[in-house]
Amino acid sequence: MSKITIAIDGYSSTGKSTIARQLAKTLGYIYVDSGAMYRAVTLYALQAELIRDGQLDKEELIESLPSIFLHFTFNPKKGFAEVYLNNKNVESDIRNLEVSKYVSLVAEIPEVRRKLVAIQQEMGKNKGVVMDGRDIGTVVFPEADLKLFLNAAPHIRATRRYKELLERGDEVTFEEVLQNVELRDRIDSTREASPLKQAEDAIVIDNTDMGLKEQFERVLNLTNRVIDQKKKDA
Ligand code: DC
Repeated sequence: MSKITIAIDGYSSTGKSTIARQLAKTLGYIYVDSGAMYRAVTLYALQAELIRDGQLDKEELIESLPSIFLHFTFNPKKGFAEVYLNNKNVESDIRNLEVSKYVSLVAEIPEVRRKLVAIQQEMGKNKGVVMDGRDIGTVVFPEADLKLFLNAAPHIRATRRYKELLERGDEVTFEEVLQNVELRDRIDSTREASPLKQAEDAIVIDNTDMGLKEQFERVLNLTNRVIDQKKKDA
């Protein structure tokens, strides 16, 4: 069995999902966007009015966890799996700035993390998975065969995210997006429960000045090397 587990972590808007999707498609692996799961729980909190005046009612969210059901379904038109919250496709709803504003507050709750990590581990138990997030190489799959850690300069990341939001038709300013990217990085890296940090055995990729094609070639090379080694070891 030469299928491997690939963990992609890194700061917000570093292009983790782009590279993860490309890799999964090329290898015929499952792609799991773990951030989509934290975003879906945040959407639930917003819809259930558990966020009032900018304050998240953590206790109530924890109590509601058993009634939050998440799953992914592959969309052949889009070429990736979309996230569903209680059987409703929320792939588009979870990408707005409102969800981005509160997602780090939701993601720092240990009970939320426990629930989502268990689902993620179950999805990756047969290998052949590419998962991206913040704690994939450190907590979800500490034994992953290949760990990548992505980074890029904040203004480059904010520019990419700003363009994405404008393309969706969202009304946002560049400044708002930059602030959100920087604030999320701060909260995600300093929270107590599974903070964003580079795994010791992760390969760092800074794509500030790297095109998508160059990045993909590099990552695919690394991946093929790991798969070849695995075959030799088998
Ligand atoms: O990858 P993303 O920007 O869609 O993730 C949204 C938020 O979810 C991010 O700011 C932190 C949180 N997250 C996390 O804490 N752990 C993960 N494995 C993935 C995301």
